[in-house]
Amino acid sequence: MNWHLLSMNDLSRDEIESVLATARKDFLELSKRDIKKVPTLRGRTVIDLFYEKSTRTSTSFELAGKRLSADVINVKADASAVGKGESLKDTVLTLNAYRPDIIVLRHPHVGAPAFISRYTEAHVINAGDGKGEHPTQCLLDIFSLQQEFGELEGLKVAIVGDILHSRVARSNIIGFGKMGMQVRLIAPPALLPRQAAALGVEVSHSLDSLAGVDVIYLLRMQRERHEGANFLPSLREYISNYCVSLRHVGRGQRVLHPGPINRGIEIGADLADSGENLILQQVEAGLAVRMAVMYRIIVDNAAAAAQAEVKNIQAVG
Ligand code: CP
Repeated sequence: MNWHLLSMNDLSRDEIESVLATARKDFLELSKRDIKKVPTLRGRTVIDLFYEKSTRTSTSFELAGKRLSADVINVKADASAVGKGESLKDTVLTLNAYRPDIIVLRHPHVGAPAFISRYTEAHVINAGDGKGEHPTQCLLDIFSLQQEFGELEGLKVAIVGDILHSRVARSNIIGFGKMGMQVRLIAPPALLPRQAAALGVEVSHSLDSLAGVDVIYLLRMQRERHEGANFLPSLREYISNYCVSLRHVGRGQRVLHPGPINRGIEIGADLADSGENLILQQVEAGLAVRMAVMYRIIVDNAAAAAQAEVKNIQAVG
């Protein structure tokens, strides 16, 4: 893996396959054992720095670090010196003085993980930057689909909902494309990026386009990113046109959602409670995948650094 994981563009298809194979082979079964810990990252330090609310990403990164035996520090911006006016740069310079090996950052601004990578020697993992990207969500989604379908080449996926404001959609369009999947976006025009068709995807404004897909990927309305603007005539109209319930799901189709779900808005309660969705499998996969990402980022780069050192010594000698 690269030094940082900021975007799905940082990973080739082979690297995606390789990280997910590590998750499957080494870490998925660990959660089912009585003793759920391995010594792999003993002596390493992980700082989880969260400037936005999170349940799944924050708990799984914390648990992943702890199960790998790293020392894990959780910093929530609303309970830190950020509330006293400390900038992101100064916060990262401060945390960097503890010489962490990995900083996991969630932040409301696009590009914040790349920005902090200039002020720390640690590996930076993007845990969601505004409406930018969420690469570990994409990896766990690909993992969940592989568990369900096996080979993904040619699989058809419809991503439905507030695509304009979704970092998950951005990472998944990149990642699903790398895996050879065909992506269709379904949303009202106001909730699609202006250049959607240029992303190499099909675009539709109707749930009728769910016909023929293998996977329905639902997204929450990201109202915290609407900044007071009215993207829709009314929520009621959105629900009547875009809320996906069990009656929309055909035989063999599977439904994913990154969470948190809003029942009755983008997903019907009947579908949320049905065996057609893989939502809790995604949550479970998130832990194994984040363990694999942290393990591989440390181990691959340590091996590369050791090789570079040997070459330097040989060159001097
Ligand atoms: N999917 C996801 O990022 O969920 P959280 O906001 O709970 O971390």
